[in-house]
Amino acid sequence: MRLGSIVLFVAVCSFTSYYIYEPIPEEIDERWKLMLTNSFFRGLSHLADLSELLGLKDYMGVMYVITLLENVVPESDEHVKVTEGRFDGVEVVLYQPKQRGSDTELRRAVIYLHGGGWCLGSSRMSPYDLLARRMVTELDAVVLSVEYRLAPAHHFPVPYEDVYRVVKHFLQKGVLVQYSVDPGRIAVSGDSAGGNLAAAVSQQLQKEDGQQVKLKAQALIYPVLQALDLNTPSYQQNQDMPILPRTLMVRFWSEYFTSDKAFFKAMMANTHNNPESFSLLKFVNWSTFLPEAYHGKYNYSAPAVVQRVREDVGMDGLSRSLADPRASPLLVPDTDLHSLPKAYILTCEYDVLRDDGIMYVTRLRAAGVEVTHEHYDTGFHGGLMFTVWPTDFLIARRMVDNYIKWLKENL
Ligand SMILES: *[C@@H]1O[C@H](CO)[C@@H](O)[C@H](O)[C@H]1NC(C)=O
Ligand SMILES: *[C@@H]1O[C@H](CO)[C@@H](O)[C@H](O)[C@H]1NC(C)=O
Repeated sequence: MRLGSIVLFVAVCSFTSYYIYEPIPEEIDERWKLMLTNSFFRGLSHLADLSELLGLKDYMGVMYVITLLENVVPESDEHVKVTEGRFDGVEVVLYQPKQRGSDTELRRAVIYLHGGGWCLGSSRMSPYDLLARRMVTELDAVVLSVEYRLAPAHHFPVPYEDVYRVVKHFLQKGVLVQYSVDPGRIAVSGDSAGGNLAAAVSQQLQKEDGQQVKLKAQALIYPVLQALDLNTPSYQQNQDMPILPRTLMVRFWSEYFTSDKAFFKAMMANTHNNPESFSLLKFVNWSTFLPEAYHGKYNYSAPAVVQRVREDVGMDGLSRSLADPRASPLLVPDTDLHSLPKAYILTCEYDVLRDDGIMYVTRLRAAGVEVTHEHYDTGFHGGLMFTVWPTDFLIARRMVDNYIKWLKENL
C-alpha cells in the first residue's frame, strides 16, 4: 500500500516534471513561468495528437481550445466604441475612439491581423482586444481587426483573400470618410501568421496601379515569411523552444495548404521543394541575407529539390503554392520591394521565425525601404500576446510599449 503510493507519487512527479521542465536558456526572464505556460501548450498538443490518432477530433480542432480560453465579447467602454460587422462579407471588429464633442480631425488607422498559424486565433481573444484598445487610446487611431477565416477548414488562399478584401474595402475614400480616417496615415500590422498576411497584402497593394489610397506603414511582429527553407539557423537553434517548436510551425505551414500528412512529413524533412522552386531559393539564402552574428554554428546548405513521381502531382501543386508570394512574401525580386511602405519588424532570438524576419529586414533595406528592426535578445515567439494574467510576461509589456511608440512616431 505504502509502496504503491510512493510509486504513484514518483510517477506523477516525474510525469509533471517531464512536462514542465524544459531546457530554456538562462537569459530568458521569468523562465519558470514560461516553462509552466509552455507545459500547457505541450500538453494540449499531445492531447491533440492523441485525439487525431483516435479519430475523435483533428489536431487543430483540439488546439483551437487556446483561442476559446481567451475569448471575450468585445464591448464598448468609456473611451472606445466597438462595433462588430462585415466588410465585403468578411467579419471584422472595429475599434474607434469615442467622439469628443465637435472633433472633426482625421485619425490614423491600423488594420490588425491576429496570429495563430492561419489555423488558430481570433480578433476576439483578450490580448488582441486589449492591444486594439491601447492603440485606440494611445494613438487616437481607428483599429480594424480582421476575423479572416481559418485553415484547415479554409486552406490558402482563403485567409489571405479575406484580408485582402477587407483592406480593399476599407481603403476606399468613401469608407474612410465614414470613420474619419486620414487616407495618408493607415498602417497594416500583424503578429506571426498575421505578420505574414500583412506583408503579403502590402506587396499586393503597391503592385496595383489603380490603388489610390496607399498604406503608410507596415508593422510586422515576428512574421512568418517563407516556406522554402525550414532549416534556417533559427529553425535549428530554436526547434524545441517554447510556444512555437519547429514541429508546430511546420504543422501550421502544411495545414495552411493541405491536410495531407505526406506533405507535413516532407516539410519536416525539408524535402518539400520541387525543381521549379530552385530558382527561388536565392531569395531565402540565409548565408547571403543573415548578418554573420546570426549564423551561429550553422553552415549553409541549400534545401533539397525533389522531382516527384507522377502519383505525386498533388504535392507539386502544393510546392507551387508554397512558392506563391502571397504565402511566402520573401520570394519576390527586389523590384517588387522597393516601393513598399516603411516597415517595423520585430524579431526574437528564441524563435524559429527569427531569420525570416531578419532576412526581410536585409532585403527591404537593400531595396531602399526604410526599416526599423527591433530585435529582442531574450524574446521568444508569441511574447507580445502574453499580457493577460496568469500568463503575463514583462517582455510582453516591453514589446507592446515599443511597438505602439513606433506607430506613434511613424504613422
Ligand atoms: C547561397 O549563398 C552562398 C554564398 O552567398 C552561395 O555560395 C550559394 O551558392 C547560394 N545558394 C543558393 C541556392 O542560392
Ligand atoms: C561547419 O563548417 C566548418 C568548416 O568546414 C566545420 O568545421 C564545422 O564543423 C561545420 N559545422 C557544422 C555544424 O556542421
